[in-house]
Amino acid sequence: MNEFIPFNRIFKNHKEQEAAAFALSGDCWHGDGPIGKRVEEQLNSWLGSRYTLLTTSCTHALEMAMMVLEIGPGDEVIMPAFTFVSTANAVRLRGGTPVFAEIRDTDLTMDPEDVARKVTGATRAVIPIHYAGVSADFDGIRKALASSPSKGQKIAIVEDAAQAVGAWWRDRALGTVGDIGCFSFHDTKNITCGEGGAFLTQDDDLAEKAEWVREKGTNRSAFLRGEVDKYTWISPGSSYIPSDVLSSVLEVQLRKKEVILDSRKAVWNSYRERLQEAEDRGWIALPRIPSYARSNYHIFHFLVQRTSDRDPLIDVLRQEGIEATFHYIPLHNAPYARKNLGSDLSLPRTEKLAASLIRLPLYPDLINIRDDIADRVFSVLSQYFNAQGR
Ligand SMILES: Cc1ncc(COP(=O)(O)O)c(C=O)c1O
Repeated sequence: MNEFIPFNRIFKNHKEQEAAAFALSGDCWHGDGPIGKRVEEQLNSWLGSRYTLLTTSCTHALEMAMMVLEIGPGDEVIMPAFTFVSTANAVRLRGGTPVFAEIRDTDLTMDPEDVARKVTGATRAVIPIHYAGVSADFDGIRKALASSPSKGQKIAIVEDAAQAVGAWWRDRALGTVGDIGCFSFHDTKNITCGEGGAFLTQDDDLAEKAEWVREKGTNRSAFLRGEVDKYTWISPGSSYIPSDVLSSVLEVQLRKKEVILDSRKAVWNSYRERLQEAEDRGWIALPRIPSYARSNYHIFHFLVQRTSDRDPLIDVLRQEGIEATFHYIPLHNAPYARKNLGSDLSLPRTEKLAASLIRLPLYPDLINIRDDIADRVFSVLSQYFNAQGR
């Protein structure tokens, strides 16, 4: 019997436990303490960011982004429908309208040509997703926004970089390219503290507003730095600062970032090389990374040519001990969107791609058995397609 390979496994050892125990032994369990501040500095220096504010999740960083940009009723925000629900919820929570764009079949990121078609005078922001840790096409998106009918009105780029910590667009870290970047440190992500995230910006004004929003709508952060003699209610806000106990786990994970990246890349490459033959035979299409992108190898996925093959293949992979899985169900077809954003929305390319996608297990612990697993996947594909005479 082959070893069962779960879809995800946290990369951890005794160091995370020791760091959390040490943090718990101290008197600062709340957020924005010495550990959280240190982690923010480490992220700034690694990624070349001016401002990084740790948050309790990427969901919350996205909510902060919409508050900081003062998105409200009547405002439109363009995003792919092929994303996690948090991207759209952040807009809805402010009363704004998510406008769903197609994704490209090469890299599953937001299609700039469709963005150009969907920009209106009411567009206030776009939220590209860096799917699988591969950068969205910033040049294409900027060109699309330049064609906006809302002449002169700035359209903000908010990167949903939930999957993209440590990935790059040209020589810039994802999360630092747009006006705002949002990271996730959920335990499905490359670097994790269980539940966590970050809000990044390079803009002084947005950084100041984000500090207020993250600290319940007050200028308490400025007060703690001694810049004002008391703090008060300045803006709408909420409670988005993670505990220093969680930040201590993140600090350990950040020290392992090179090992994490190198081993994920090696596993990704094993799949990519071993499954080339499956693509050559016309069974599947493999992922493509554009030349401007440096991936963090967050996901390995492939597309089946016929959508009817997707679920049966996931089943046989699982029967063979490989916990493969699908990904997002496009948001425009979700019950909430159909009820509140219109039931006639159609994004045929997104629907086809989402229904064709299979993700394979990918994490550092697979490093020593990567070729074996890639062989097992290829053998399942061969048996499946050969049985059908294809
Ligand atoms: C594209 C995208 N955005 C946002 C999120 C939400 O991240 P979090 O769990 O940190 O709130 C996810 C989570 O997987 C995601 O994939």
